[in-house]
Amino acid sequence: MRTDTTFEIDLTEEQIAFFHDNGFLSIERITTDEEIEWLKGIYNQLFDERAGEEKGLYYDLAAPRGHDGREVLPQVLGPDITIPELRESNHYRNALKLSKQLLGDDEKVRAGGHMIFKPARYGAETPWHQDEAYWSPDVYLNSLSVWMPLDEATVESGCMQFIPGSHKGDLCWHRHIDNDPLIHGLMTDDVDPSKAVACPLAPGGATFHSYRTLHHTAPNTTDNPRRAYILVCSGPEKKRDTPAPRPWSEQEREAMKKAGLDVPLL
Ligand code: NI
Repeated sequence: MRTDTTFEIDLTEEQIAFFHDNGFLSIERITTDEEIEWLKGIYNQLFDERAGEEKGLYYDLAAPRGHDGREVLPQVLGPDITIPELRESNHYRNALKLSKQLLGDDEKVRAGGHMIFKPARYGAETPWHQDEAYWSPDVYLNSLSVWMPLDEATVESGCMQFIPGSHKGDLCWHRHIDNDPLIHGLMTDDVDPSKAVACPLAPGGATFHSYRTLHHTAPNTTDNPRRAYILVCSGPEKKRDTPAPRPWSEQEREAMKKAGLDVPLL
């Protein structure tokens, strides 16, 4: 059962300034241990059921669409659409509240979620990328991601790693993992990993990162799963006069059409 205990947190001025300077922020707690236990049950159920696969809401991020081998980085999109109760949690409420503080306290900030699972021992790397590379070319984004592990997240199990200050640069050139446009996962080579800052977290901690911050998680080489629940919080967006180029998305659309895959590209 979901806990009814209210857990409230706030950001300090220093934390807000750190986020704007560095493009990321790590906090020790966004929800309670009790709620994490409740979330684990939902999480496992959604992955067991491959929730929404026929609608393009479940797929392996690091392997070609429709492959039949073992899944190395499965993802569930929109878990709160399947289970609306997720929106009543301390996690959701705190993520939205803190995101408003970071994005400028705009009442129009909205959240949408996804879950990325790195199986024990063979969970794949999420290569260096900026989230913006995946998203709409038609708008100037105004968003951040709140990343929360349900398991101990270490460098070895795949905690978040960031390049400080990278949110102030441009959108980098991205390509598909293995140069295979049937793999949804994107990566950029335009990064100096020696500048990375790793953010290990206990379950129920969280990191925040801007849509343009370069980030990465290593393969899971531990004996434990690494379950992560991500909320993307967005404020009002400004429409671009001309869409930004996203050749990698065009390649993916074409490859999926050629392969006869008719799931939506989400
Ligand atoms: Ni990302």
